Amino acid sequence: MSVAIASAAILTTAAAVYWFLNRHKPVKHILSELRYTIDMQGAGVGGLIDDWVNIRRNKIVLPDASRKIAVVTGGARGIGAEVVRGLLKANMNVVIGIRKPELAQTLSETMENGQNLTVFQLDLQSLKSVKQFAENVLKKYPAIHILVNNAGIMFGDYKLTEDGIETQLSTNHLGHFYLTHLLLPALKKGGTFEESARVVNVTSCAHYPGKIYFDDINMKEHYDTTAAYAQSKLAQLMSARYINRLLDQEGYPVKCYAVHPGIVDTDLFNGTLFRRLFPWAMKLFFKTPAKGAISIHHACFDKDLEKKSGLYISNCIEGISNRFSKNVEHQQRLFEISCELIGIDANDFGKDL
Ligand SMILES: NC(=O)c1ccc[n+]([C@@H]2O[C@H](COP(=O)([O-])OP(=O)(O)OC[C@H]3O[C@@H](n4cnc5c(N)ncnc54)[C@H](OP(=O)(O)O)[C@@H]3O)[C@@H](O)[C@H]2O)c1
Ligand SMILES: *[C@@H]1O[C@H](CO)[C@@H](O)[C@H](O)[C@H]1NC(C)=O
Ligand SMILES: *[C@@H]1O[C@H](CO)[C@@H](O)[C@H](O)[C@H]1NC(C)=O
Ligand SMILES: *[C@@H]1O[C@H](CO)[C@@H](O)[C@H](O)[C@H]1NC(C)=O
Repeated sequence: MSVAIASAAILTTAAAVYWFLNRHKPVKHILSELRYTIDMQGAGVGGLIDDWVNIRRNKIVLPDASRKIAVVTGGARGIGAEVVRGLLKANMNVVIGIRKPELAQTLSETMENGQNLTVFQLDLQSLKSVKQFAENVLKKYPAIHILVNNAGIMFGDYKLTEDGIETQLSTNHLGHFYLTHLLLPALKKGGTFEESARVVNVTSCAHYPGKIYFDDINMKEHYDTTAAYAQSKLAQLMSARYINRLLDQEGYPVKCYAVHPGIVDTDLFNGTLFRRLFPWAMKLFFKTPAKGAISIHHACFDKDLEKKSGLYISNCIEGISNRFSKNVEHQQRLFEISCELIGIDANDFGKDL
């Protein structure tokens, strides 16, 4: 009984403090932020359970993919670096795009087949930089076999890029949307009907509480950084599905997949309260970046996936994705808005013009 009273008192106090700290905000925003906070913790715990339950499924034997070309965004740190290590091990030629290419110098010296790694500058928060990166890639490799849209950021304050796009949406979704558009002609050349080229989008179970703010995609009216991360990861999942269907209908040998790598101990969590409070818990309960890369390698190489494109993968099997992401009308609306934001006609997406 006294425990119940004490809990009720603590909860009431917490609610009062929360309300007091947020008293200048409209109630609907307070409630929405609260829902996102709770749902995001739920998605995180769900992700951790998924990683433990399926721990034995998360494995891969790398094939020999010599003479094939892979492009990876953000391949010098975290999960991306392990993805690159595996692709090089599979004898691929790998191009990575990062903001400071000089920081990747030691990478090629420490990785097996490191001499087959090329580094170009890429800042996904600038459409101009994405275009320059794509031109550099295409000049070196007119045909490409795998594109891994891995780079990403999580949370942070409200900021717009030079193109006027909210930063998480720009880095995680729109920069990759533009890059995919620019590299698709080369992917269409790289794919064959026996072996399609693949686009692998690194998304997250954090998409689950998300929705797309169609009427205010940059969230200018009210910025909740958790909602913005969820929106950006949801957008990548929806684009993978939509563009996969588009390419299939047009008869091109390019397939798309969306992958949740697991809950992984990387710098992505820098700046979160969780990391400040429980850094030891991350070491103890989260995947290592090498384990996080496995589902991505699976999406790059698994032969059985050829028939199951458009899939959302977690721990090398189909994962649980939210209903919003499967709605084709929502997917199309997002596709049209994204085309508008990068300044192309929707009919020209992925075409060599
Ligand atoms: N860690 C997890 O638990 C988890 C869970 C689900 C999904 N994910 C997803 O996994 C992906 C990789 O994350 P991570 O955990 O490996 O994070 P990380 O260690 O923080 O690495 C992020 C990578 O993104 C690149 N990047 C960030 N902003 C960029 C920009 N504007 N232009 C170009 N590259 C940029 C960084 O490259 P620079 O060297 O240029 O900084 C870096 O290589 C992300 O998409 C993330 O959303 C992670
Ligand atoms: C990787 O680089 C080595 C040395 O330059 C070269 O012999 C080999 O053919 C390259 N591999 C591929 C797949 O191009
Ligand atoms: C992956 O996500 C990006 C950004 O949302 C999107 O542009 C791209 O088309 C998706 N990739 C595919 C084709 O799977
Ligand atoms: C993240 O934090 C760690 C530990 O404090 C630090 O070593 C690392 O440089 C940080 N990374 C980034 C990208 O800020």
